[in-house]
Amino acid sequence: MKNIVAINASPRIGWNTSQLVEAAAKGAKEAGAVADIIDLYKLEPFQGCISCFGCKLPKTFGRCVSKDGLSEVLDKIRKADGLILGSPNYLGNMTAGFRALYERLVFQSLTYNKERPNCNEHMIPVLFITTSNCDESIYNKIGYTAMLEGYKNMLERFVGPAKIMICGNTLQVDDYSKYDWTVFDPVQKKVNHEVAFPLKLKEAYEFGAGLV
Ligand SMILES: Cc1cc2nc3c(=O)[nH]c(=O)nc-3n(C[C@H](O)[C@H](O)[C@H](O)COP(=O)(O)O)c2cc1C
Repeated sequence: MKNIVAINASPRIGWNTSQLVEAAAKGAKEAGAVADIIDLYKLEPFQGCISCFGCKLPKTFGRCVSKDGLSEVLDKIRKADGLILGSPNYLGNMTAGFRALYERLVFQSLTYNKERPNCNEHMIPVLFITTSNCDESIYNKIGYTAMLEGYKNMLERFVGPAKIMICGNTLQVDDYSKYDWTVFDPVQKKVNHEVAFPLKLKEAYEFGAGLV
């Protein structure tokens, strides 16, 4: 049985990213895999790469040696047959929690060796889900498409074949009237959440099933 690790890198459990990650994990499960969902922001404290270069030494080659909340996650990914990553867009990039995992996941396999730039012998398919306030139609114009291409390239080089799923125009809060947020149309946000978001959940489910 295939083993899928699904990571929610949003601090808001039960919200957009987390629901999409769950839907993708459900798709993988119903396609016959076991799926372990991990909420990054529930873990013990962790940090990004600290540049110790332990992963470049012969004894611990290719393995992040930093010991914190992410160690077990990295171990699980090492044994997995597929990986689901989900992160909201924060300030034009992914969350700090996502970046910490991403740095350590990718850098441990990067060798600085001309003959063998990637030492990961267990490449696995990746589904990378990202959500944002802004609409998908402006991703290209504001540089998000290029930013996501960068992630796809790195993931494909060091983790495995990657697919990207984007979900824009998300509902950010239940009640927009509590805030002085003049840039949003709360009615449009609600409608989008009720009409378009369920289709995104279905898409995530299908992507998840496709990982298996
Ligand atoms: C700190 C912070 C920064 C954000 N920056 C952006 C941004 O640059 N572009 C954007 O489209 N949305 C931005 N958002 C909105 C989130 O990406 C969006 O609401 C996302 O769907 C939230 O995911 P969640 O519901 O899983 O928490 C930001 C939200 C927060 C809290």
